[in-house]
Amino acid sequence: MLLEGKVALVTGSSRGIGRAIALAMVKEGCQVAVNYLGSEEKAKSLCEEIGQLGGKAIPFRADVSRWDEAKTMVDGVLSSFGKVDILVNNAGITKDNLLLRMSQEDWEEVIRINLSGVYNCTKLLLKPMIKQRQGRIINITSVSGITGNPGQSNYAAAKAGLIGFTKSIAKEVASRDILVNGIAPGFIATDMTEALVQAEQEKLLSAIPLGRMGSPEDIANVAVFLASEKAGYITGQIITVDGGLTM
Ligand SMILES: NC(=O)c1ccc[n+]([C@@H]2O[C@H](COP(=O)([O-])OP(=O)(O)OC[C@H]3O[C@@H](n4cnc5c(N)ncnc54)[C@H](OP(=O)(O)O)[C@@H]3O)[C@@H](O)[C@H]2O)c1
Repeated sequence: MLLEGKVALVTGSSRGIGRAIALAMVKEGCQVAVNYLGSEEKAKSLCEEIGQLGGKAIPFRADVSRWDEAKTMVDGVLSSFGKVDILVNNAGITKDNLLLRMSQEDWEEVIRINLSGVYNCTKLLLKPMIKQRQGRIINITSVSGITGNPGQSNYAAAKAGLIGFTKSIAKEVASRDILVNGIAPGFIATDMTEALVQAEQEKLLSAIPLGRMGSPEDIANVAVFLASEKAGYITGQIITVDGGLTM
C-alpha cells in the first residue's frame, strides 16, 4: 500500500473531492482526520464507513478560516494520531458574481476561506512537519486560478494566490524534505458544480476534450500519488486534472 502508516488531515472532507481523497488515502493504508464545517452527519458517516473498511478516521469540526478553530483542530489531530504526515488543503467555497455585482462580503469570504484557511492550516502544521523532517502538503487550487473565469474574480484570485503560496512554501521547506504541491481540478461533479444551470454545464462540457466532467476520484488518485513515495522528487508543481480543458 502506498500510504501505510501515514496520517493525513484532509480539510473539507465531509463531501465532494475531500471525501474522495480521504477514502482513497484510507484504501492505501493511511489514517485520516476528517475536517468538516456544517456537514456533521456526513463527516461522521464517512468515519464509520472508513471504520468498516478496517481503517481509522476521526471527524474534527472547524472553520479553517478561523485561526483559533484551526488551531484547536490541529492540536486535536496531533494528540489523537500523534503526528500528521500529509495535509490536504481542500476546503473551499464559491460565491460567484460579476465584479460589478459582487458584494465586499462575498469577496472577503471567498478569500478568507479559500486562501487564509490554507495559511492557517499550513502554518499550524509546518512546525511539527519540520520537527519530524518530512511531510507532504497538497493544495487544491483550480483551473480558474490559472485561466481566470468571468463571474469568479474572488474565487480565481484566491486560487491563483494559492498557486503562488504553494510555490513559495515549497521553496521555504524543501531542505526539510517537506514537499508542497497543488492540484488544479477542472470541472468536477460535486455539490459545487451541481449549482451551475444546465445551459452552463452543457457549454462547459463541450469545451472538455475528454467529453465528460471529472469525478472526485480523478482528483483523489492524483492526491494519493503526490502523497506517496512515488512522488518523492516533485515539489512546487501544480498538476492540472481537467480532461484537457485548459491545454
Ligand atoms: N468541483 C469542482 O469542479 C472544483 C473545481 C476546481 C477546484 N475545486 C476545489 O476543490 C475543493 C473541494 O471542492 P468540492 O467541489 O468538493 O466542494 P463541495 O462539494 O462544495 O465541498 C466543500 C467542502 O469544503 C468544506 N468547507 C467549506 N467551507 C469550509 C470551512 N470554512 N472550513 C472547513 N471546511 C469547509 C465543506 O464542509 P461542510 O459541508 O461540512 O460545511 C465541504 O466538505 C475546493 O477547494 C474547490 O474550490 C472544485
